[in-house]
Amino acid sequence: MDLKDLIFKSRSFRRFNESYPINLKTLESLVDLARLSPTTGNRQPLKYMLFNTPDICKKVFPSLLWAGYLKDWPGPGEGERPSGYIIILGDKSITDTFGVDHGIAAQSIMLGATDCGLGGCIIASVKREELRAELNIPDNYEILLVLALGKPVENVVIDQIKDSDVKYWRDSEGNHHVPKRSLKELIVSF
Ligand SMILES: Cc1cc2nc3c(=O)[nH]c(=O)nc-3n(C[C@H](O)[C@H](O)[C@H](O)COP(=O)(O)O)c2cc1C
Repeated sequence: MDLKDLIFKSRSFRRFNESYPINLKTLESLVDLARLSPTTGNRQPLKYMLFNTPDICKKVFPSLLWAGYLKDWPGPGEGERPSGYIIILGDKSITDTFGVDHGIAAQSIMLGATDCGLGGCIIASVKREELRAELNIPDNYEILLVLALGKPVENVVIDQIKDSDVKYWRDSEGNHHVPKRSLKELIVSF
C-alpha cells in the first residue's frame, strides 16, 4: 500500500467483528512502530499495556466514551466491540510533560494496524480513574490514550465539508460519514 492509500484507509472505526482474534505478537509489532517514532528530546517516556483476550477486553470497554457527535449511539454493542486494546501510558518517573509524543505514537500504531488488515479508534475520552482502578495502573503512570483495535465491520466515507460542519454522521444504511476540510482551506499565508 502506498503512503496516501494507507492514510486514506486508516479511518476511525468503532464497530468490529468482536470474535476476530488479535495475536499478542501483532500488538507487540505495533508497539515496535511506536518505539521507533519520535519523542520530545528523545526521552521515550511512553509505556504500553496490551490486551487481546475477551476477559480483559471486557474490563477496558466500560471506561471508554464513543463518538460524541452520535448522540443516540452509546457505542458498539455486544459482538461489535474491539478485540484488542493498547493503552498508552506516560511514565512520570521519566517526565511530567508528554507533549504530542502520544499522538505521534498513536498514529504510528494506527497506520500499522491498517497495514495488517485491522482498524480502530484513538480514544482520549476515557474515565481514567475508573480504568486505573480496574487495571491496577500505578499512580506514577498517566493514562494518555486508549487505542481500540479490531477487524472493522463498518464503512467509513470521507466527504467534503459543508457549511463548516465538522460533525461526523451516519446515513440510513449505517455508513459513517466524516467531513474533511479542503486542502485549499488548510494552506494559509499572511
Ligand atoms: C487525539 C484523538 C482523540 C480521540 N478521541 C476519541 C474518543 O474519545 N472517542 C471517539 O469515539 N473517537 C475519538 N477520536 C476519533 C475522532 O473522532 C476521529 O479521528 C474523527 O472523527 C475523524 O475521523 P477519522 O479518524 O476517520 O479521520 C479521537 C481522535 C484523536 C486524534
